[in-house]
Amino acid sequence: MIKTIRTPVGEFKLLVDSYQLDLLRDVRRVFVFTSMVAEVAEDTFADLGAGTGPLTVVAAHAGAERVVAVEKNPKRARLLEKNLRKYVPHDVEWEVVVGDAREVDVNADVIACEMIDTLLLEEEFVPVVNAVLERYEPIIVPQEVWIGANPIRRPPRMPRYRSGLPEDIEPLEVIRTDKPIPKKFEYETPEPGYAFFTWVEYEGTIAGGSDVFCPVLELPTPGNVLIGVRGAGLPSLRSYAPEHQDHT
Ligand SMILES: C[S@@+](CC[C@H](N)C(=O)[O-])C[C@H]1O[C@@H](n2cnc3c(N)ncnc32)[C@H](O)[C@@H]1O
Repeated sequence: MIKTIRTPVGEFKLLVDSYQLDLLRDVRRVFVFTSMVAEVAEDTFADLGAGTGPLTVVAAHAGAERVVAVEKNPKRARLLEKNLRKYVPHDVEWEVVVGDAREVDVNADVIACEMIDTLLLEEEFVPVVNAVLERYEPIIVPQEVWIGANPIRRPPRMPRYRSGLPEDIEPLEVIRTDKPIPKKFEYETPEPGYAFFTWVEYEGTIAGGSDVFCPVLELPTPGNVLIGVRGAGLPSLRSYAPEHQDHT
């Protein structure tokens, strides 16, 4: 399949699988990430979790001299390679690495990592970013990920995802990628249920809350502190009431 994307550095017809097609249909996600990459791409650029390559292609047209795309899914990586062969300009060096971004040693000046999901829970954004920051000091795209929460009147019995961000999201936390990200988080949740929002913003446009990018996570939170481990998945979530329980 082919999907056309419009980006700040031009239009590209990319080979995609059905997963990448869904992601590229979220136009706010594409706008926010391609704009951020186009703004900072230079020297060596690495795309960790490259998919079929939208961000790598943009970086190659936006000033990078060398681009490295890391993708762990071998079938997707084959499409990625074809897209880079077609679209990377001749004077830009490129390389596809099929492997786990936590283990691949990429020393790049700018790194994009779009493995972002709600609360940074399920995907490997945090372990990947932390593995990079242990060794190097690149600019990481996105530079910030925002998290917010609203109490909900009718909490679900089980955690559930839905699409659509409300107008009134108050930031609860901003996660910056210029220093290692703490894996554990604790949020005060005094009401019985909360909807958690995660988003990335570029010049007033918010990406998040779609079916494919950071859908809203509604949680029953019977305690009044919610604890979780980023990258460890939904089962890592716990809640407790500090006045009744000791959680050590
Ligand atoms: C959300 S998609 C983003 C694709 C593309 N960068 C984009 O922005 O459209 C994340 C991609 O990262 C890959 N991925 C997930 N975990 C990975 C890991 N540990 N190492 C390398 N790739 C990974 C997935 O296979 C998927 O293709």
